[in-house]
Amino acid sequence: MKKRILVTGGTGYIGSHTVVELQQSGYDVVIVDNLSNSNADVVDNIEKVTGIRPAFEKLDCLDYEGMDKLFTKYAGIEGIIHFAASKAVGESCQKPLLYYRNNLVSLINLLELMPKHNVKGIIFSSSCTVYGQPDTLPVTEAAPIKKAESPYGNTKQINEEIIRDTVASGSPVHAIMLRYFNPIGAHPSALIGELPNGVPQNLLPYVTQTAMGIREQLSVFGDDYDTPDGSCIRDYIYVVDLAKAHVIAMDRILNDKQKESVEVFNIGTGRGLSVLELLNKFEAATGVKVNYKIVGRRQGDIVKVWADPTFANEELGWQAKATIEETLKSAWNWQVKLRERGIQ
Ligand code: NAD
Ligand code: WQD
Repeated sequence: MKKRILVTGGTGYIGSHTVVELQQSGYDVVIVDNLSNSNADVVDNIEKVTGIRPAFEKLDCLDYEGMDKLFTKYAGIEGIIHFAASKAVGESCQKPLLYYRNNLVSLINLLELMPKHNVKGIIFSSSCTVYGQPDTLPVTEAAPIKKAESPYGNTKQINEEIIRDTVASGSPVHAIMLRYFNPIGAHPSALIGELPNGVPQNLLPYVTQTAMGIREQLSVFGDDYDTPDGSCIRDYIYVVDLAKAHVIAMDRILNDKQKESVEVFNIGTGRGLSVLELLNKFEAATGVKVNYKIVGRRQGDIVKVWADPTFANEELGWQAKATIEETLKSAWNWQVKLRERGIQ
């Protein structure tokens, strides 16, 4: 009998890649998504990749009654992976209350419903943004949490506290918080990938859209930072490697005799790459030049952050495997396919 997992935000970028890996690992997946930042044809594309159509409910995680009914309709949900959230840092500064409501209440609803429906555990999408600018690099899970630079980052920090307090209060929940670094790339099938609404805020979609001629020119936000080439450094992780980490974490929740607990893991490659290095590697990997110019710094940018993934490597038995070249090529292949399909 397949174990049933609820994936909130499952038609989103990371969620859709995780649904594919869950299905291919034998899990029965139910997706909940309100389609505020994705569309329903992702369900068709997941089916094309795996041959299995996941159950899909268009529903807002803020709808407590609706979520309660969902758990009843899909009896036997054993675990949850909670991706559903608003995630645009800049937008969160313009609309803080939307972010606090969406990102906090959706989690609270799930935590309240879990004991009622005997759900054993939850994997929460956290972010390296909780570290701010780490004092030492690479950054481990023991690094201090710094004051968030945005309401979005603050929602991740508060969510982690909500989870800790809930488990500490005796709620029979096993929670695993995965702190993602910078997920990039697309599934090798190029049937699913990152499809941001409007002008991309993140680096790689902007790079591939510029390379495709959709955007005139990439602005590199500063080359006067305290880094070897002056541009900011990040830990870019292949989204499929990230998705696989969720399957391992869910296996751990469902197969482990671990009593109620909270665990935190950095999910990164351990490799720092600057913006200018990434551009050079993109051009080398794809043969496509990217038109860019150096402009002023972007407010709130962290100068340099990359993971020490040792704990996840050893305790979870998870390792990022893709090279940066393979990852960048997957992003470009996805952009090419979007053009061929007339989508972008
Ligand atoms: P995404 O926007 O592609 O996916 C989020 C999905 O959740 C979307 O499909 C959206 O429609 C859905 N959603 C949002 N609010 C909802 C609600 N109230 N009810 C139901 N569905 C809702 O984002 P992503 O890049 O896949 O990120 C997934 C998670 O990972 C988010 O929690 C994000 O904060 C976190 N994260 C992302 C990154 C990144 O760089 N992409 C880095 C660190 C953490
Ligand atoms: C990466 C680097 C930019 C765009 C953000 C959120 C974080 C997480 C991931 C949700 C930076 C530079 C970017 C551009 C550029 N999201 N850049 N020109 O800022 O590390 O993290 O997304 O959890 O919370 O903060 O990612 O892709 O926006 O930027 O020069 O057009 O690329 O300055 O150095 P970031 P990013």
